[in-house]
Amino acid sequence: MTTKASPSRTGADRDTDVIVDVQNVCKSFRDDRGREVHALRDVSFQVRRSEIVALTGQSGCGKTTLLRIIMGLERPTSGGVSVNGVRVRGCGPDRGIVFQNAELLPWRTALGNVEFGLEARGMPKEKRREVARQAIELVGLGHAAHRRPHELSGGMRQRVGIARALAIDPAVLLMDEPFSALDAQTRENMQAELLDIHARTGKTIVFVSHDLDESVLLADRVVTLVPDPGRVHGVLDTSVGAGTPLDERRGSPELAARRHELWRLIHGREVERPQKGPEPHESYKEERA
Ligand SMILES: Nc1ncnc2c1ncn2[C@@H]1O[C@H](COP(=O)(O)OP(=O)(O)O)[C@@H](O)[C@H]1O
Ligand SMILES: [Mg+2]
Repeated sequence: MTTKASPSRTGADRDTDVIVDVQNVCKSFRDDRGREVHALRDVSFQVRRSEIVALTGQSGCGKTTLLRIIMGLERPTSGGVSVNGVRVRGCGPDRGIVFQNAELLPWRTALGNVEFGLEARGMPKEKRREVARQAIELVGLGHAAHRRPHELSGGMRQRVGIARALAIDPAVLLMDEPFSALDAQTRENMQAELLDIHARTGKTIVFVSHDLDESVLLADRVVTLVPDPGRVHGVLDTSVGAGTPLDERRGSPELAARRHELWRLIHGREVERPQKGPEPHESYKEERA
């Protein structure tokens, strides 16, 4: 049974149990003509232990850049990110990342691909195999551990990507549009899979998705970004129906209402601002002071 379980978040620890702290992150790039592109401006938000947070917003609003900065693949122009109180200065074993298309080594088996990241850490061969095997089992691929990437479906390849990220036992799992290249049925299966993994491991997860249904369904909170420059528009609490089986929640009116609320928050700037409308929902907060 897949539920949106939230292992550690109740009461007093909500504010103190911050694991990812994004503080005033700005990022500029130079485009081909040497002009400055402000990909992110003054982005701040926090993620608590075992929380699932979605980053959403239209294409080009800086979601990938933000995730890469948290991972340590990109340096912010100013501001910074801390994970478990330690400033991010590059990649580290406390963070694992899953991309839209798992780039797997074609000559290695699923198991071999998961082992690869562990080799770089100098883990002895026996231990490596054991850890990789556990990660492969965790994503439900035990039966296909010895297949090579060309013998795996798209969903299975993404599972290997997730196993590879989890094998290093990171404190935070980062995912950039992890299911968007999959067909609808596989995508639903993978969403359920992710919540199962979360329920079993209690991992803190930050994932990027431009799909509002997916964001509301999977996340405890959704951070919405707007472009030019990329900045936080608001944060919506979407932890509705925690403990309810996923299949029941998919079609629930409560979820549909939250999804609509999220849609309004993202589009409301253009659609509703000129008119005098109802007060925003209290769970929606402008994060920019
Ligand atoms: N390496 C780069 N060089 C120049 N511009 C970049 C680079 N990476 C991202 N950008 C720009 O930064 C903005 C945000 O990009 P991105 O983070 O990929 O957005 P999203 O993932 O939300 O679609 C876009 O305008 C994009 O063109
Ligand atoms: Mg992107």
